[in-house]
Amino acid sequence: MIKSAVLIFCILSVAHAAEWCLKPDPISASVAETPAEKLAPDTPKCSLESPELVMGRLVNGTADRDADLLPSWVDLKLAARGQKWALDNIPLISGSHIFGLMFVLAFPDNNAVLLFTNQSDTANLAMKRYASTIEQVNTWYNGSLKESTDDNDILSSLLRVRGLHTAAMKAGNERMHGENPRPLINKELYERVQLDEGMWKAFETDLKNSDVTEKFRKVPEKYTGRDGKYYAVSQFQQAMTQFAFVGFPVLFPERLFLLDAKDEDLVAYNHLWAVLGHALGIEDEYNIALQPDLKTTKEYYQHIYENWYLPQFFNLDFHTKVLMEAQLQGFEKIDDILTPRTLLLRILRDIVKIPVPNMTRELTPKDHHKMLQFHAKGNLFYK
Ligand code: HEM
Ligand SMILES: *[C@@H]1O[C@H](CO)[C@@H](O)[C@H](O)[C@H]1NC(C)=O
Ligand SMILES: *[C@@H]1O[C@H](CO)[C@@H](O)[C@H](O)[C@H]1NC(C)=O
Ligand SMILES: *[C@@H]1O[C@H](CO)[C@@H](O)[C@H](O)[C@H]1NC(C)=O
Ligand SMILES: *[C@@H]1O[C@H](CO)[C@@H](O)[C@H](O)[C@H]1NC(C)=O
Repeated sequence: MIKSAVLIFCILSVAHAAEWCLKPDPISASVAETPAEKLAPDTPKCSLESPELVMGRLVNGTADRDADLLPSWVDLKLAARGQKWALDNIPLISGSHIFGLMFVLAFPDNNAVLLFTNQSDTANLAMKRYASTIEQVNTWYNGSLKESTDDNDILSSLLRVRGLHTAAMKAGNERMHGENPRPLINKELYERVQLDEGMWKAFETDLKNSDVTEKFRKVPEKYTGRDGKYYAVSQFQQAMTQFAFVGFPVLFPERLFLLDAKDEDLVAYNHLWAVLGHALGIEDEYNIALQPDLKTTKEYYQHIYENWYLPQFFNLDFHTKVLMEAQLQGFEKIDDILTPRTLLLRILRDIVKIPVPNMTRELTPKDHHKMLQFHAKGNLFYK
């Protein structure tokens, strides 16, 4: 009896939360000199509990935004502070995006869409796509976020990217759920791909031998969705990809060598990504950056990291490795200091924080040389 009352209450409050998210209190106070915890007092806290995000696999990921890409709850001052912080730290922030991207490519839903669009499955394609992505994202960090002007660089870039996502969503959904339903991946295209088995074996062995607890080696069953069905570019994928950009700097500034990040900077950067996510069509319920304060944000992100992100690396299938390897080779074409082996090694050593004896043994003399060059620069990804 009590149980069902609680259940009904929960269902009602979820419905209400969605409604409430659409019309939060207007932003009023000046944020300039308020303490970190209160920087964005009226930003709605709308994101679902992390396990519930998986419901978004069956919700299209680019919600209509009409002419106005900015949310009603945007705090322009705070977002501008987030932009400034990102620009001041752009080499490290871009480095964090590289790490984030490697994780997000490992999500089966995501990599199926990316293999389907044929834009990232070779080194050259992956290089071009990544260069273009980083160029766009840097634009979003640089300049005014003012509302709905046709000639605003940031908004027009966001609109363009939203268009790319919508196109991939439509084509992908048509393929999976249209008249002649088929899986997204054309398996025959990859039959002859030779993976770098030595590198992957070492990567997997170091993970296997690590002290990462069993619990975080597999996505918990209750978080995997009821059946395999999903939409291409879903709200769930959007949320996971948003984490690739916002999650690591907020959660692990020290692992990224963002050593002087102040709490206020992280709150501001997080708010910026709540706004960017909104503009790209993420619903408030799935907008993981909509959190009441920094402490809650970190807890929420830690939960995503442990239950969604980390397990992907323990469960890489062949096609995921094809895409990741193409992306790794693409990074090396952008900057030859980023060799595939050294990059994978650094993800495990610096982000996952595990010993990497097997990856180290796999380094070629060239990799060792690049690693030394890299450390000599004293700074991740800094040219
Ligand atoms: C916060 C979330 C996301 C951000 C910030 C983001 C960012 C970007 C950017 C900047 C581009 C433009 C690249 C270019 O100029 O070619 C792009 C393109 C694209 N994105 Fe996303 N993206 C997000 C989520 C997703 C998700 C969830 C998917 C689903 C797999 C996805 C799939 C694509 C596809 C298919 C393209 C077109 C180019 C291609 O086919 O590879 N994106 N994205
Ligand atoms: C990807 O490439 C394959 C083989 O060239 C082709 O059959 C397929 O239609 C392409 N997919 C898209 C979405 O363009
Ligand atoms: C920001 O934009 C300005 C003006 O377009 C440009 O000169 C500058 O190089 C950009 N900064 C970065 C870090 O991209
Ligand atoms: C999602 O988008 C597809 C088009 O890509 C559309 O056919 C489908 O009805 C949409 N589903 C929902 C639940 O909105
Ligand atoms: C991985 O490294 C450990 C520790 O050095 C070593 O004992 C083990 O034999 C290595 N495994 C493989 C498969 O090389």
